[in-house]
Order: sequence, then C-alpha cells, then structure tokens
Amino acid sequence: MTVKPSLTEQSAADGAAVETLLDLSFGPSRRTKTSYRLREGSSPLPHLSLVIREHELGLVGAISFWPLSVGPAETPAIMLGPLAVHPGRQRMGIGLELMREGIARAKAAGHGLIILIGDAPYYAREGFVQVPEGQIQVPGPVDPKRLLYLELIPRALAKTMGLALPPWRWREINALRAPT
Ligand SMILES: CC(C)(COP(=O)(O)OP(=O)(O)OC[C@H]1O[C@@H](n2cnc3c(N)ncnc32)[C@H](O)[C@@H]1OP(=O)(O)O)[C@@H](O)C(=O)NCCC(=O)NCCS
Repeated sequence: MTVKPSLTEQSAADGAAVETLLDLSFGPSRRTKTSYRLREGSSPLPHLSLVIREHELGLVGAISFWPLSVGPAETPAIMLGPLAVHPGRQRMGIGLELMREGIARAKAAGHGLIILIGDAPYYAREGFVQVPEGQIQVPGPVDPKRLLYLELIPRALAKTMGLALPPWRWREINALRAPT
C-alpha cells in the first residue's frame, strides 16, 4: 500500500532531520550564503515552518519563513527559505506544495511582503518577481536577478526600501542612533 506524503507543521523533534535535509539539498557550504545572514539570531515564524513526510524516506521536504526589517524605518517583511526537497524526491511537486501552503498561511496570518533569494524561473511559478534594483539591499553578495518578492498586500513593496536585516539588528542600530 502506498501512503500519501503528508504536509504538517514542523515540530521540535524534526529539527535534526530538517538540518540533514538542508545539507543533502544545498550541500555543506550552505551556511556561507547571504540568506543565512538574514536569518542570523532570529527564529522562524511560528506556524509557517512546514514539512512533508513519507513512509520510505521520512522527511522529504521543508520550508520556513523568517521575520525581516527593511531600512531604518524597520518596515516588516518576511523571508521565504530555506525550501528544500530530498534529492530522491525532487521534481515531483513537493517544493511547490510546500511553497503554496506556506504562502497561503503567511497571507492568512496578515503578512504583507515576502522576500527571498533564489532561482527566479522556479519562484515565478508562484508570482515572485525581481526586486527593482537598488530598492532593497541585503547583508552580503547577491545576484540582483535572484532577489525576489511577492506582495501579499497590494503595494507592500512601495514602502519597503533599504537594507534588509533580522529585526533585532535594526532595533539595536536604531537604539544606538536614538538621542539620549
Ligand atoms: C528547488 C527545489 C526546492 C524544487 O522543489 P521540487 O519539489 O524539486 O520542485 P517541484 O516538483 O515543486 O517543481 C516543479 C517544477 O519546477 C521546476 N523546477 C524545479 N527546480 C527548479 C529550478 N531550480 N529552477 C527552475 N525550475 C525548477 C521543475 O522542473 C518542475 O517543472 P515542470 O512542472 O515543468 O516539470 C528542490 O529541487 C531543491 O530542494 N533543490 C535543491 C535546493 C535548492 O536549490 N533550493 C532552493 C531553490 S532556489
């Protein structure tokens, strides 16, 4: 009997399996990527870390979303990623299923803007497009063609400009700048 893969929220017990999946999918140098600087010191958003499990290989797909603040105005946005699918189960629709469900949940939770660094042809399938060059910076090297956004609230991008950082970093910078 074939048991259909199941999508659920990630639990604390999934942590090690997700890390192994990310190593398998992205390779061990993944932590040097700019996207890791955007997640540093933050926690993934609750209820938006999803996994897909199956009988044979166990955990075969994972996605998470992270809080961001953009620019000194600390305009909130969220970051999609990492999204990873087990090499033995790629191109079977698992990545798109995780992405669609994650986006739907993010929208239902009231988030307005998703940013990610990734392959434009893939993410275009769910409506992601390139951030206009220069509007949003990230703390590390990035190919501008890979810096993508999706508005969940119309015109959310228009008011979002500057350096994207984990929220705690902008809070600290602005606290240091504040007059005493
Ligand atoms: C990229 C990844 C998440 C896609 O997940 P997946 O489950 O393999 O992909 P899906 O089955 O949902 O994709 C469906 C379609 O997207 C296409 N696609 C998959 N990866 C793609 C990519 N990187 N660029 C463009 N198209 C891609 C597939 O060819 C497929 O096309 P089709 O419907 O015309 O056959 C997965 O392959 C992966 O984990 N890759 C390694 C890690 C990685 O690079 N992750 C981040 C991507 S920026």
